[in-house]
Amino acid sequence: MKLFYCVILAYLIGSFPTAYIVGKVFFHKNIFDYGSGNVGTTNAYRVFGPVAGTVVLVVDILKGTLGALMPVFFGLDHRWMLFVGVFAVLGHVFSIFLKFRGGKAVATSAGILLAYSPSLFAICFACLAIIVYVTSMVSVGSLVTILVFAISTLFMHDWILTAIAFVILIIIYVRHIPNIKRLLKGKENLVPIGLAYKR
Ligand code: G3P
Repeated sequence: MKLFYCVILAYLIGSFPTAYIVGKVFFHKNIFDYGSGNVGTTNAYRVFGPVAGTVVLVVDILKGTLGALMPVFFGLDHRWMLFVGVFAVLGHVFSIFLKFRGGKAVATSAGILLAYSPSLFAICFACLAIIVYVTSMVSVGSLVTILVFAISTLFMHDWILTAIAFVILIIIYVRHIPNIKRLLKGKENLVPIGLAYKR
């Protein structure tokens, strides 16, 4: 029963539509109608600027962290963290507050990793930041980082981490299909940071 409560709470926490609320409350805009139309950090940065983007990034990461910590709060084995954390990601992607629409899973997934292994989170965050700095495309950073991370877990002898990493890989790739199509056409949206944007 405790696990059931954890899953429900994690889903509800993940459902909190940060980028949508920031857009509505502070800018009186519906983020669905601007930029890529995505309810996430990158689009909030693109449409509302760096402060709003940073707020959305931090809150969306913390949704994953808090969701993943639910089993700890309920006194369950810490190995449930990753499993429960996935429900925070599902909440972010299929938010109950947005008629089951939502973001692309990257920040909230990173939050799970922050709860489970801060050092792995730091490595992945650095990897993503370097790729975004070079390409000015968060989608490329997200897609490459999750792929490298999921493959790397095969050498970590933590099969739960590997299983969850590949589940998240699938969620992120499916959510990025429009980005992948744009990348293949050479028409992906840039963010106003990094080397490629300056050229
Ligand atoms: O995390 C989402 C990012 O990878 C892409 O966002 O707005 O460019 O589709 P966006």
